Formats: sequence, structure tokens, C-alpha cells
Amino acid sequence: MGADAFPAVFGVADAIPGWLTRDQAHALFDAATQLRPGSTVVEIGSHQGRSTVVLAGARPDVTVVSIDPFVGGKYGGDLAARAFARHVDDAGVADRVESIPQPSETARRAWGDRPVDLLYVDGAHDPVHAYQDIRWARTMAPGSRVLVHDSFSSVGVTLALAWAVARREPLVYDRRVGSLAVFTVGRPGLGSAARMLRELPWFLRNVVVKTLMRLRLRPVARFLGHRDAAEPY
Ligand SMILES: C[S@@+](CC[C@H](N)C(=O)[O-])C[C@H]1O[C@@H](n2cnc3c(N)ncnc32)[C@H](O)[C@@H]1O
Repeated sequence: MGADAFPAVFGVADAIPGWLTRDQAHALFDAATQLRPGSTVVEIGSHQGRSTVVLAGARPDVTVVSIDPFVGGKYGGDLAARAFARHVDDAGVADRVESIPQPSETARRAWGDRPVDLLYVDGAHDPVHAYQDIRWARTMAPGSRVLVHDSFSSVGVTLALAWAVARREPLVYDRRVGSLAVFTVGRPGLGSAARMLRELPWFLRNVVVKTLMRLRLRPVARFLGHRDAAEPY
């Protein structure tokens, strides 16, 4: 399956509720198409399968391990779990998706030494869990890709990233697609930290927009250029 398959794959994924823009889906799809046959993708936080279908749709010869305990509340619990199974099946990718319905920290403890070739982090957004998830990068080969959703838009994820920089986790920051940050596993230099620091104004703007939206001041958020009904992601 080549890069030109993206529109068809996204056409299927786009019918699945979730928080992944077309451009972000394209970045995930591109990262997955660059993998070797037999590679393993770890996706933390699959929800109803929007990102899963993009990752698994990129090529038939990789396995996508989707880790999600399907928590309740706004994420829908069992309803989301059932929708996930249905969406993956309907998309015709169930044979290459392995679901682990557990919190990522539990899955991590049982993981062993199975290689991880591509990591997508979009699970719990508090700083402790997000940092634990980002730390999976420690087990990955240099040059592998790590993509982190809600970077510089969620305070929790951004704190986790700041901590990862302070702890010199093996992640070199490349770019972001909206709130999706793209990293390469490797030794981070000053350039990587400087590129992340440059995202600070965008992060602060997102915090202001979110605060305005929670205070029901959407018109002011619109004035700042945020036209979506959803908070920035
Ligand atoms: C923002 S949603 C993921 C969206 C999904 N990637 C998409 O494209 O639509 C976050 C998900 O993280 C899951 N989650 C919450 N705590 C988790 C944990 N400790 N480990 C893994 N996933 C977790 C939630 O159940 C929820 O489905």
C-alpha cells in the first residue's frame, strides 16, 4: 500500500468519532508507511479506533497494538470498546490490530522485550501518565518515530514533554501538525529543545483559548482565531 492510499484510508477513518485531524492522520499514515514488514506499532489511547484505522490502514504487513482500558465518563467506557471493535472490523484491518484493554502502565509491565517500531501516544493526558507513555521511547531503536497527540495543547502532556526534555529522554523534536508532535528516537541536542521552546507562544495561546471556552466565552476565542466547536487539538 503506497502513500497514495491515504485518501481512501482517511475516508474510512473520518467516519469514526475521535480527535484526529486529516493532517494529523496523514502524519501518522506516513510514519506507518515507512515501517518495514513485520513491524510493531504501539498506539496508546485508541478510543473508538479513528487513529487505529489510519495506522493499520497504512500497510497490511504491520501489527498495531492498541492499548486502551476504555475508561468511562467522556470517553464512553464499554460503548467505546464495542465501537472500537466494530470500527476496526468494518475497516477490514482487524487481522492486524491487537487490542490490549488495559491501562498503558499495566501493558508496559507485561510487555517484555518485544520491539516497538512506531509509538503513538494519545492515552491519559495527566503529566504522570503521559510521561510514562513517552518513556516507552527508551526501548526503541534510534531513528524510530514517536508521535504525541495534544502536545502544546494539553497542559498535562506539555508538562510531560518538558519533563522528558529535562530528563534527556531519547527524543529529538522534529515538528508538529496542530497538536501532534513528531519526534525521532535519538540523542536530543540543544536544537531539539530550542525547537520545542519555540512552540511556547502557541501553547500559551491554546491555554487561553481553552480557558475562554470553559468560561463560555467562545466569541473571544473566535477573536483569537479559534473557530472549532472543540477545544484546540
Ligand atoms: C483522546 S482519546 C484517544 C483518541 C484516539 N487516538 C482517536 O484517534 O480518536 C484518549 C483515550 O485514552 C484512554 N486512556 C485513558 N487512560 C489510559 C491509560 N492509562 N492507558 C491507556 N489509555 C488510556 C481513554 O480510554 C481514551 O479512549
